[in-house]
Amino acid sequence: MKTLLSRAPGPAGTLELAEVPEPRPGPGEVRIAVAACALNYPDALIIEDRYQVRPPRPFAPGAEVAGVIDAVGEGVTALVVGDRVIGMPGLGGLAEKLVLAADRCVGIPQSTPFDEAAALLMTFGTAFYGLKRRGGLTGGERLLVLGAAGGVGLAAVEAGKVLGAEVIAAASSPDKAAAARQAGADRTLVYPRGPFDREGRRALSALIKDACPDGLDVVFDPVGGDYAEAALRSLRWGGRLLVVGFTAGIPQLPLNLVLLKSCQVVGVAWGAVAREQPGLFAEAAAEVVELHAQGRIRPRIIERLSLDQAPAAIARLAAREAVGKAVVVF
Ligand SMILES: NC(=O)c1ccc[n+]([C@@H]2O[C@H](COP(=O)([O-])OP(=O)(O)OC[C@H]3O[C@@H](n4cnc5c(N)ncnc54)[C@H](OP(=O)(O)O)[C@@H]3O)[C@@H](O)[C@H]2O)c1
Repeated sequence: MKTLLSRAPGPAGTLELAEVPEPRPGPGEVRIAVAACALNYPDALIIEDRYQVRPPRPFAPGAEVAGVIDAVGEGVTALVVGDRVIGMPGLGGLAEKLVLAADRCVGIPQSTPFDEAAALLMTFGTAFYGLKRRGGLTGGERLLVLGAAGGVGLAAVEAGKVLGAEVIAAASSPDKAAAARQAGADRTLVYPRGPFDREGRRALSALIKDACPDGLDVVFDPVGGDYAEAALRSLRWGGRLLVVGFTAGIPQLPLNLVLLKSCQVVGVAWGAVAREQPGLFAEAAAEVVELHAQGRIRPRIIERLSLDQAPAAIARLAAREAVGKAVVVF
């Protein structure tokens, strides 16, 4: 089968197309004939050994897939050959076949196209788990989404609207802000790109405060860096800062602000929920699939690529150039 391998740490250009034997499912596992694999920022990190997980090489990146079960291992009863599923293996998705634990697969309806299905779990899974279950976002609250034109960011904009919030989308260019607006944001905010000095950090805080003079109930932050503290400063009493990712670096927050605002800084580790709370993962993932089937959410796919085009798309994620989702189709 064809795959795209990382054989040594490095940027996307180091990935190599390869032909390898098909994997076989072990007990409790299924094999998925991958129809689509969505790309995510962690794909850019994992191949450079900059992600929390450092798999042994060679490995294929690709954190989330959609496809059809084409073999089942011993003891698997809940899935059969021919079932349409999505899964979030974390890696290995940029391959024609992939083996995954059966209980990590989520069924999808016949009517759900594979390209959109592949882009549901990481982005909308994170957005809904973060906003609803970790952040307790409720109708009428005011939500700020940072990095709002990225994969997770756009999903958080849509999820915020589904949950009835007022959504302010923040991004680093007018084009990105426009994409977030199209996804349903009520208002947008264009922030500058770092690095920031002391004055720059102050200006960033003032920019967010001016855009949200009455304060924020929830901040969804997949960006981190200096943006996190600037956003924290605009939280209302009792607000919640959702820590989702660190594309701009890992921030250090002054805890006096947390006390003064009686606010919460809440970690959102959706990627680990499948392992730590499998029941919750299955329930939350099924909710996302259902919302998509109802037409209430839709991944913004901007590129459908072949396997050999994936390295260039991963490089665009790393370079802060991507808007929406890129999906590799097989
Ligand atoms: N916690 C979880 O369970 C979970 C799940 C999925 C993803 N994540 C994390 O969420 C983050 C976003 O993932 P994604 O797939 O949505 O990424 P993405 O599509 O690349 O979006 C990330 C956004 O970050 C902003 N950014 C700021 N500095 C950047 C830089 N130096 N390089 C690239 N982007 C930069 C960009 O927006 P602007 O240019 O507008 O600032 C970009 O649109 C990643 O850190 C990822 O690891 C976490």
